[in-house]
Amino acid sequence: MTAKVRELLHSRIRDVADYPKPGVMFKDITPLLADPEAFAALTGVLAGMCEKFGATKIVGLEARGFILGAPAAVQAGVGFIPVRKAGKLPGATLAQVYDLEYGSAEIEVHAEDLAPDDRVLVIDDVLATGGTAEASLQLIRRAGAQVAGMGVLLELGFLGGRVRLEPTLKDAPLEALVTV
Ligand code: PRP
Ligand code: MG
Repeated sequence: MTAKVRELLHSRIRDVADYPKPGVMFKDITPLLADPEAFAALTGVLAGMCEKFGATKIVGLEARGFILGAPAAVQAGVGFIPVRKAGKLPGATLAQVYDLEYGSAEIEVHAEDLAPDDRVLVIDDVLATGGTAEASLQLIRRAGAQVAGMGVLLELGFLGGRVRLEPTLKDAPLEALVTV
């Protein structure tokens, strides 16, 4: 990815102060999605990552990881697997509970969607504390599939998600297109 593309992507992420609660700076990707040049560039970079990591499937994390992961999967010519918040998938699922600041959350994947010969690229918009990504990677490993890597548009480095993911990623790469 060129510096120019990185700048374009960064410039289309909007900071929204005090959302969803006071003291939080929300990273809004909707300006990027609304810009066809930036969205196409992002899709191309993520599809290229899929090829580079030798991934055979893309897992997208509900909800914003769906928006980024699905077009990348189509462009890369691999299947797209949704990891959903609990209670949304009709088939037999594997579930993973993870901690939030207050309470906990649960995500699920269709068990039949991940097999031992699958090499999975996990895609999400933002890596913050890493809780969501960690639970997703645990789910993929429990399903017996291989983790080819993780790709995010934006990494909030000061929240330490990368360090948190190290034990679950093992040797798989984590690539962030923009880091703040
Ligand atoms: C946001 C973001 C990432 C996650 C990052 O999703 O899209 O998935 O939080 O935070 P973490 O690294 O601390 O886990 P959120 O659950 O807010 O909702 P959405 O994607 O459904 O909008
Ligand atoms: Mg999310």
